[in-house]
Formats: sequence, structure tokens, C-alpha cells
Amino acid sequence: TMKGAIFDLDGVIVDTAKYHYLAWRSLAKRLGFEFTESDNERLKGVSRMESLQILLEVGGVEANEAERLEMAEAKNKEYVEYISRLEPAEILPGAREYLLELRNRGVKIALGSASKNAAFILGRLGIAELFDAVVDGTKVSKAKPDPEVFLAASAALGLNPADCVVFEDAAAGVEAGKAAGCKVVGIGSAVILRDADCVIAGLHELV
Ligand code: G6P
Ligand code: MG
Repeated sequence: TMKGAIFDLDGVIVDTAKYHYLAWRSLAKRLGFEFTESDNERLKGVSRMESLQILLEVGGVEANEAERLEMAEAKNKEYVEYISRLEPAEILPGAREYLLELRNRGVKIALGSASKNAAFILGRLGIAELFDAVVDGTKVSKAKPDPEVFLAASAALGLNPADCVVFEDAAAGVEAGKAAGCKVVGIGSAVILRDADCVIAGLHELV
């Protein structure tokens, strides 16, 4: 039985993927190429600098380290403008209800996200206090599909990974959860998330 639940943030608790996409797309535009929504699928769950790497490959753009840092900073600045306007109403259907239900059942809850903006987003959504532990991009160095974030999250809850269930919308995140030894519930497409133990459309299916 599940003793701990570890949630990805973007695409599981809140749909910030659209804001990441808008910010990456405007960077691509400034660099002179189109960045499509299907290109953006490859960035889900991937850290900021690795996302930039993929974007530059898509555009065939060369950039040195200093230029890359500047680009990532510009993208993040635009992204932060969008998420500064986030409201509790944008929590995905069922997410708050499911978190509350887990708390009632005594299941420990962690966030396991690659984002350096995770704490800010939880604050904007007003749900920070529902988490027993927050492991985000400021605390881990190896990006999903490396299991580091989920190993750290289960450790922060004082639990074995095998007693934890990971909720993930990204293929890289499902892979990371499995590599950590957790059970994984995929959220989204059963085709993209085929390595998950089961796949649902959203947390609303669980409440
Ligand atoms: C999440 C998102 C990715 C994003 C990453 C880093 O994993 O799914 O699209 O690139 O976080 O986010 P950050 O807020 O640190 O740029
Ligand atoms: Mg995600």
C-alpha cells in the first residue's frame, strides 16, 4: 500500500506547460525560427538548461555558454511574468481534492519537480502547506530521467521509494520514477507514458 505520494508539478498539479511554451516560443522567434507545440513536448520534465539545449538543436542555432545563460534568463523572466498571475483557480481538476484525501488517509506527500520556480508556484496556488516535503530544481542537480529527484523526495518523507507512488505527466519523469523504484501513475497519454504502471487522464479520476 502507498505510504507516500510524490507529485510532479507542471502538468500534474497545474498546467504551466503552456506558459513554458509561450516563453520558449518567443525566445525561438527572437532567434529567427518557429518552435512548435510538438517540439515543446520534448521539453516536459526537462530542466531549464537542457530544454534550451533541445530548443537550440531544433533551430540549428549555435551559442556559447554565456549566450546560453543569457537566453535561459530571458526565457525565465518572461515565464515568471506569466506565473506571477497564476491563481488558485488554475489548479488542475481534482488535484486539491486528491491531496486533501491523501492527507486524511495519512499518506505523506512530496513535490518532485525539476522547476526552480516550484515553491513560488505552490505559493501562488495557495497549496504549499499540503506538502510534507518539496524537492525541486533548486535541490537536485541531475535532471529526469535520472531518479535523483524521486529518491530525494522519498528520503525527505522518510520512506522507501518502493512505498511511494509517483504522479507524472512526462515520459522522462515516468522513467525517473521507475528508475527510483517507485510505482508510477502516468497522467496523460498512454502512448507517450507507456512505461507507467497505469495511466489516467488526470487526478480528478482518483477523487
Ligand atoms: C518542469 C517542466 C519543464 C521545465 C522545468 C524547469 O520539469 O516540466 O518544462 O523546463 O520544470 O523549470 P524552471 O521553472 O526551473 O525553468
Ligand atoms: Mg510535468
